[in-house]
Amino acid sequence: MDIFKQIHSEHQIVKKLAKQIIKENDNITMSAQISELGDALRKHMNAEEKIFYKYLLQNSDKNGLIYEALEEHLAVRAVLLDIESTASENERLPSKMKVLDKLLKLHIEEEEKTIFPEAKKFINAKQAKEMNKEFNDAKKDNPTTDLEETPI
Ligand SMILES: [Fe+2]
Repeated sequence: MDIFKQIHSEHQIVKKLAKQIIKENDNITMSAQISELGDALRKHMNAEEKIFYKYLLQNSDKNGLIYEALEEHLAVRAVLLDIESTASENERLPSKMKVLDKLLKLHIEEEEKTIFPEAKKFINAKQAKEMNKEFNDAKKDNPTTDLEETPI
């Protein structure tokens, strides 16, 4: 497994979970799924920023792309916090979840279609495997929920 495949497979998992939450009718199940999604997303974004984006910022001359992606992470984190503090019976919750889903789809598409090809210019197959080990180690962290304390 390399970092690109790892990130892609985690993207598939969070997209599926967001879709399930949108369809869920039971409030208790929905709350549990939201906290599962929040946990998965924060661990994923934290590891991406610490390992993948940090390396890209040092090696790519297209930092604007990375800053945009980081801004999208910030937006995802902010919407997540809002959703987590919304009661499951709140009639606005389904709409909030749909906005999060849209943000996720947009960000994931940009990451895979724009950032991956840029990163592959200077991350070879061997490095991509090594980087995945670091990525998986970083996923053991307990990421902050504070919007101002993200890795980069
Ligand atoms: Fe990301």
